[in-house]
Amino acid sequence: MNTKVIRIDEQHMDTALIEEAGSIIKAGGLVAFPTETVYGLGGDALNPQSSEKIYSAKGRPSDNPLIVHIADMEKLNAIVREVPENAWKLAERFWPGPLTMIFYKSELVPRETTGGLDTVAVRMPVHPVARALIRAAGGYVAAPSANRSGRPSPTVAKYVIEDMDGRIEMVIDGGDVEIGLESTIIDLTSEKPTILRPGYITEQKLAQVLGEVAQDRTMMCADSGQAPKAPGMKYRHYAPKGELTIVDGEEGCVVEYINTQIGQKKKDNKKTGVIGTDTSITQYQADVCRSVGNRNDEAEIARELYRVLREMDDENVEIIYAESFGTVGLGQAIMNRLLKAAGHRVVHI
Ligand code: TXA
Ligand code: MG
Repeated sequence: MNTKVIRIDEQHMDTALIEEAGSIIKAGGLVAFPTETVYGLGGDALNPQSSEKIYSAKGRPSDNPLIVHIADMEKLNAIVREVPENAWKLAERFWPGPLTMIFYKSELVPRETTGGLDTVAVRMPVHPVARALIRAAGGYVAAPSANRSGRPSPTVAKYVIEDMDGRIEMVIDGGDVEIGLESTIIDLTSEKPTILRPGYITEQKLAQVLGEVAQDRTMMCADSGQAPKAPGMKYRHYAPKGELTIVDGEEGCVVEYINTQIGQKKKDNKKTGVIGTDTSITQYQADVCRSVGNRNDEAEIARELYRVLREMDDENVEIIYAESFGTVGLGQAIMNRLLKAAGHRVVHI
């Protein structure tokens, strides 16, 4: 398949191009597009064949449900059994934006889209290109992150093309995304609202609206034998090709430990890499050293993390060490993704 790549600037949107992209989705094809979190791989959420195509383009197991993206609140009713009070409150505060809510699904949503589940994940993105595309595509766009399964989610179109060229009809290049980590997922079908995946909308912000919120127990720890409630969280995710280890401790000690390890790996002829921060990065002796930004600027770290993981792959780095980050606020989402990328390999010094 020949993948058409088009560029759409969110400030000056070309309606003819948006219509063309929407028609592809309506006809059962797939279009990758920018959202504020990461790039999505969009298909018609109400067409079971489209969902099957998404799974096969991603190389993703089909028991891993997709998020249905809407652009208008009026579209919600038709795809869910009911809209609980908490959903109205959250929507008022956080939609459009990087929050996904889980509802009981209506008959309209095929089980192919929900990975066989009786529930459906719904998100209303804020990115203008995403919103225009969803409307042009009929209102319901199923979209996982636009990476091949197991790779870091793409935050720039270059990496969408790398993973999806020849596998989908179109890629919309809308430039760099703003947030860089996938949306927060909250389950509203459980007894207590429960966070299944941390993201830009933090636990603290959700608690301001809902009072108490619970967290899925598997969110921050290595597989405890308990199945995560978001099926996608059980797979080894966001993984770079190299072996990644997180090193946690006081900065000077971390630098010293990592440099010692790197010395040994270099003797074994391994290509080494370090993921550090602006103040530490020049102190490392790895072959490839990349900063995710200022340690105190979590928004910057979130935005840079997947790009840096991808760059490690671009450089064919075999052994990667990463600094550790705090787990408060947005830090929780950052560490959740980094821990998964590392397969929970952490050294405390
Ligand atoms: O920011 C985002 O959410 C991005 C952009 C493109 O919108 N999308 C995204 O989709 O991250 P994906 O497919 O990569 O991740 C969806 C996650 C998976 O972990 C999946 O298991 C979970 O959502 N999920 C979807 N439907 C669910 C459901 N009904 N119950 C529990 N978890 C669900
Ligand atoms: Mg994903």
